Formats: sequence, structure tokens, C-alpha cells
Amino acid sequence: MKLISHLLAQNEQHIQRLIQSRHPILSAAAAHLFQAGGKRIRPTFVLLISQAIGTIHQSQQRLAEITEMIHTASLLHDDVVDEASKRRGIDTVNTRFSNRIAVLAGDFLFAQSSWYLANLNHLQVVKFISKLISDLAEGEIRQTSTQFYTQFELAAYIEKSFYKTASLLACSGKATCMLADSVPETMGQSMYLFGQHLGLAFQIMDDVLDITGEISQMGKAIGADFITGNLTAPLLFALTQQKGLVTLLERECCYTQDANQVRQFVLATYAIEQAKDLAFEHVQAAIACLASLTPSEAKDALFDLAMNTISRQR
Ligand code: FPP
Ligand code: MG
Repeated sequence: MKLISHLLAQNEQHIQRLIQSRHPILSAAAAHLFQAGGKRIRPTFVLLISQAIGTIHQSQQRLAEITEMIHTASLLHDDVVDEASKRRGIDTVNTRFSNRIAVLAGDFLFAQSSWYLANLNHLQVVKFISKLISDLAEGEIRQTSTQFYTQFELAAYIEKSFYKTASLLACSGKATCMLADSVPETMGQSMYLFGQHLGLAFQIMDDVLDITGEISQMGKAIGADFITGNLTAPLLFALTQQKGLVTLLERECCYTQDANQVRQFVLATYAIEQAKDLAFEHVQAAIACLASLTPSEAKDALFDLAMNTISRQR
């Protein structure tokens, strides 16, 4: 992203500083995942919106850093919950260090992000960003409590995905507008919806890539959702077409070949196409929200960000 590449580079340096702690083990564990890279979608999103609605303020740059810290904190915890061993092509913190250190490093990042958030001295922004942190926990709890639940409905999946993924983009899109000079409230609402639809499209495609992706590109295990019983959009579409799936899911994929069999079943249906169509609907809805922005390079880049969601391979 050429337009903001210098700011993203600064973002990396600042984050390295913000995650320094008195305890070298915590700094090392928190830095482990950051240093492996990642798509940096959240800071890119915040910086591009800032640019599209005016000039980028220091507070918006800090918000971009905060969003990436919150996201990384949630991944540290998520990899413990999912017992994942690889992320971004390297060992997860729970594998490289331990579950205990991964949980503590996640707590530390959440705490640091809250501290820097409070230091923005903007109560409304604090409220919105705190809300998304509690939404992350809500999404994860909903996902955990519906594992292998074959009656799970698409509407409930979308709601869970809002909490787990889209709320972060929606709330930070709105907060970015709040930090700008004299931007009308309606712009905040448009950027909230832009983030919401982008986040939903992103999560649906993530769930598609869990079935169709390549380990080498994704940098994490494929098929993890079948093993943990996470009923994602492609699985829900497939369930209506392949009755055999219910048996496998109800026995919680307990036999060695079950997860592979689920994958084969899903691939034999139209589920992947249906899920991609659903993601595309959200991309279109996201793009419609950009109408309120005046033409600019940043607006074009936001358009590309939305379109890339459905063509991405990782
Ligand atoms: C990745 O999901 C995980 C998330 C998007 C959010 C995880 C949130 C938590 C663990 C709760 C956060 C805790 C607190 C204290 C607020 P995934 O497993 O579908 O994706 P993956 O394949 O990349 O792991
Ligand atoms: Mg996971």
C-alpha cells in the first residue's frame, strides 16, 4: 500500500516500543507474533480512512497501532483456545513458549492497548474501542458454545462473526472519524458500516480459505474449523446439501478420517461458491458505504482493500 507505506513502517517501530515491558519474557512473547508480519489490515484500514476524510492525525496513527495490538492480543489467546501450533508461518507463542506465557502476553497487549487508548483522551473513542474488545470475547464465547451444533443458523453465524471480527473494523472505522476535525456524524456511521461489511466479508473468506487454502500461503493449519467444530458459512451451506455431514459432526469428527471426510463432503457441494457469493455481497455493501467520501487516492485504496478481500489467497 504505497500511499501509506511510510506510516505503516512507523507503525511497526512504534508498536515495538509500545510493547516493551519490565519483563523480557513478555516483550519477547508479544514481539514474536508481530515480527512474523501479518497483513496489517486493521492499521491500513484506519490510516486510509484518516487520509480519505482529511489529513492523518497523530491520534489516528496511535489508533492504528492500538487496533493491531488488540488484534494480536486476541490471536495470542485464540491460538491457546484452538491449540494452534502455527501462525504467520512460524510457531505460535503457545508452542514456542507455553500456554501460560501466551495468555499472559495476550493480557499484557490488551492492557497496553487500553493504556494507550485512554491516553488519546477522547471518551467517545474509549467507549467504542472498549466495546469492540468485549465484542471479541463475546464472539469467541459464542463460537466455543456452539461447537459441533448442527442446528446453528447462518444468521447466528453472521452475528458471531460480527462480534469476533467485524466489530473491530466497524468500531475503529467510526473512532477514526471521531478523531478527525469536523467530520459529520453520518461519515462516522458510513465508516462503521464499511468496516462491518468488510469484516464480515473478510471472516467468510477466512472460513473459505480454511477449506481451500494452502498451508504454505496461509502460514497456519488448514481444516482447523472441522477439528474444533466451528460451523462456518461453507459448512452451513454444505449441511443443507449433504445429509452425511450431520453424522460426522454429531460424533464430533472423533475418528481419524472424519475431518478429511467433512472436507470432501463440503467440496462436493456448491457450498464454497455460495460462501464466496455471500462474501461478495458484503464487499458490495462495503463499497456502497464509500459513496460518502470525496474522490481521492485513499478512497481508491479503500475500494481495493474491499475487493482484495475476496481475491486473497492468505
Ligand atoms: C481468530 O479466529 C480469532 C479472533 C478473530 C478473535 C479471538 C478472540 C478471543 C480469543 C477473545 C479475546 C479475549 C479477550 C480477553 C477480549 P479463527 O480461529 O477463526 O482464525 P485463525 O484461523 O486465524 O485462528
Ligand atoms: Mg484460531
